[in-house]
Amino acid sequence: MSTTTEAPHKPTAGPKTAQSLTLADLVKTYASRGREQVTAVKGIDLAIEPGELVALLGPSGCGKTTTLRMIAGLETVTSGSIKIGDREVSQLPASKRGIGVGFESYALYPPMSVRDNLLYGLKARKVKGAEKMVASICDRLEMNDMLELRPAGLSSGQKQRVALARALVRNPPVLLLDEPLSHLDASARQRVRRELKVLQREFGYTTIVVTHDQVEALSLADRLAVMDAGVVQQFGTPDEVFDDPANLFVAEFVGEPQINVIRGVAKVTDGKTRVEIGADSGSLETGVTSVADGTRVTVGIRPQDCSLSAEGSGAEGISTTVAYFEHLLEFGLATTTVAGMEEGVVVQTPAQQSYEPEQKVVVSAPPERVYLFDVETGVRLR
Ligand SMILES: Nc1ncnc2c1ncn2[C@@H]1O[C@H](COP(=O)(O)OP(=O)(O)O)[C@@H](O)[C@H]1O
Ligand SMILES: [Mg+2]
Repeated sequence: MSTTTEAPHKPTAGPKTAQSLTLADLVKTYASRGREQVTAVKGIDLAIEPGELVALLGPSGCGKTTTLRMIAGLETVTSGSIKIGDREVSQLPASKRGIGVGFESYALYPPMSVRDNLLYGLKARKVKGAEKMVASICDRLEMNDMLELRPAGLSSGQKQRVALARALVRNPPVLLLDEPLSHLDASARQRVRRELKVLQREFGYTTIVVTHDQVEALSLADRLAVMDAGVVQQFGTPDEVFDDPANLFVAEFVGEPQINVIRGVAKVTDGKTRVEIGADSGSLETGVTSVADGTRVTVGIRPQDCSLSAEGSGAEGISTTVAYFEHLLEFGLATTTVAGMEEGVVVQTPAQQSYEPEQKVVVSAPPERVYLFDVETGVRLR
């Protein structure tokens, strides 16, 4: 399995202005009088290719907005470097960086209609075809019903689309979007998300989208930077992050339903490693080769990688009891319990199968999909 972070997407039709964006050991410490210092960003390195779309994904408070604001020039940098192409921009004022920012809080001019707000900057710069471009982008972001409205009359979802459109029409080489779709309802969000991705491809902006929503991140991004506590935990394609998580945080944060996390003990015999689960509930083979016999480990198995067999069928795995079973549309979810353990195992089952509470079943998984993590640090064991 590859852990390379080579950019998967090389834009072919993007504008000549598409630029790489490189962060090196970027740090932000907020120091406020009378309060403790907060280091919100703790040394981030990211090399983003020209025209690439990167999603910065992480829980609330992990430093996403701070990172974006430093790149935009809306927040000073404590230390480290920000380069657009070969140009160091971390000490430049925001207006000199050539960055389009889709922050919601960005002011609109209250007396002007949405359309005029969007055209304002373009007309000032005498951009050719401005009206046509604004009309086309607004059409694609489903904004036709709001073009004549004034900002005060807009709903939060509408304001958010205006902020997005305003960033897009400026056609910046680098585009930064902070939770751009959070106020849209579910169906509009899905459509606008798709259009955003198509527009990003057409225009070729190098883009960072901040989100705490993994579906949004997975659907938009060429690569994901998964953040926690001011640190990028993993930077890779959606498949790399899902299939080959660097640590327990990433494994738990990405994936729906969430990965199963269970305590286990490694048993090494004849060069093969198995993990024993519970006191007498069986074991699973794993592809991990670096753990010593008897090591306590944290075991991670995705519900999608598990399968169930009837007890007594001879299948190797963990003996469990079905606690409950949910029929969803395209699949089922069986929640099972392991004797003497708090942690259960959730198994995604094929649509046509059905299970009853109290049913005894064996949970199996392919060895290469049975992940082990260090009990203390959460680092992936290989
Ligand atoms: N202006 C500020 N002064 C002090 N602390 C701040 C400031 N802005 C953000 N923080 C702190 O920095 C951390 C990261 O915040 P933020 O970048 O907004 O996270 P996210 O966007 O991932 O939710 C949080 O602990 C937050 O409280
Ligand atoms: Mg934020």
